[in-house]
Amino acid sequence: METIRSNTTATAPAPTPVALRVTVEDVLRSRHSVRAFLPTPVPRSTVERLLSLAARSASNSNCQPWQVHVVTGAAKRSLTAALLRAHAGDDEGRGRDYPYQPEQDGWCEPFRSRRRRFGESLYRDTLGIRADDPGARLDHHRRNYDFFGAPVGIVLTTSRHPLQSALVDAGLFLQALMLAARGNGLDTCPQASVIDFSPVLRRHLLIPDDQLIVCGVALGYADPAHPLNHLRTTREPVGSFATFHGDEAD
Ligand SMILES: Cc1cc2nc3c(=O)[nH]c(=O)nc-3n(C[C@H](O)[C@H](O)[C@H](O)COP(=O)(O)O)c2cc1C
Repeated sequence: METIRSNTTATAPAPTPVALRVTVEDVLRSRHSVRAFLPTPVPRSTVERLLSLAARSASNSNCQPWQVHVVTGAAKRSLTAALLRAHAGDDEGRGRDYPYQPEQDGWCEPFRSRRRRFGESLYRDTLGIRADDPGARLDHHRRNYDFFGAPVGIVLTTSRHPLQSALVDAGLFLQALMLAARGNGLDTCPQASVIDFSPVLRRHLLIPDDQLIVCGVALGYADPAHPLNHLRTTREPVGSFATFHGDEAD
């Protein structure tokens, strides 16, 4: 039997053939949050292509309220430094444009339990961090501000008017961007952590006041060897969230 040799290594992502046919199911199943990236740069033309695919998302009356700020190289390093300074205690950089999630004690079931399970999978099972080691948790959390080492950081904003639909539309854009990335051999991590310092993002990226800062996204080539990227989350079965009305049988 002939042996097939592979000359790919853990540090070099396999090139994605232009004609590679991946199905929607493939990208939906293979997308997951990636929290460790290779330093391999992503060409600007690739980022533009992914953004143009994401912009095919549906939106309220085709308003397309989303905007993105793409940071790479020195601009990304400078933003990371500013976010880390703010995280270290400069209170004036703290603040969100919208209440993204409840405060620590404000979570109700079943979300409180699901969130706890996710935290255990990430911190205890994947990173080996004990519950009584807040310093180690913080060290990991800080990596959000470097976009987990991804060569590209994206800050997604949306129009404040009309807010509710613009937020829904931005969510669709976010998902489409993550799937477009996956379909082209790249990976992402959506990041609400960066919006804890929205005044810093606004100042640094000159984001106008009429734009609401939705979240960040790390984009790049996953480091397949990094244990953080071995984390896989589960999902509830369809029966737990779908109610069927009508009497059509299969
Ligand atoms: C809007 C949004 C913000 C998120 N913010 C963060 C974040 O700041 N840091 C992080 O590590 N993961 C973040 N996540 C990733 C979630 O933890 C992740 O999507 C969830 O646990 C499901 O796992 P999966 O993406 O691997 O399927 C965010 C996800 C979404 C949708």
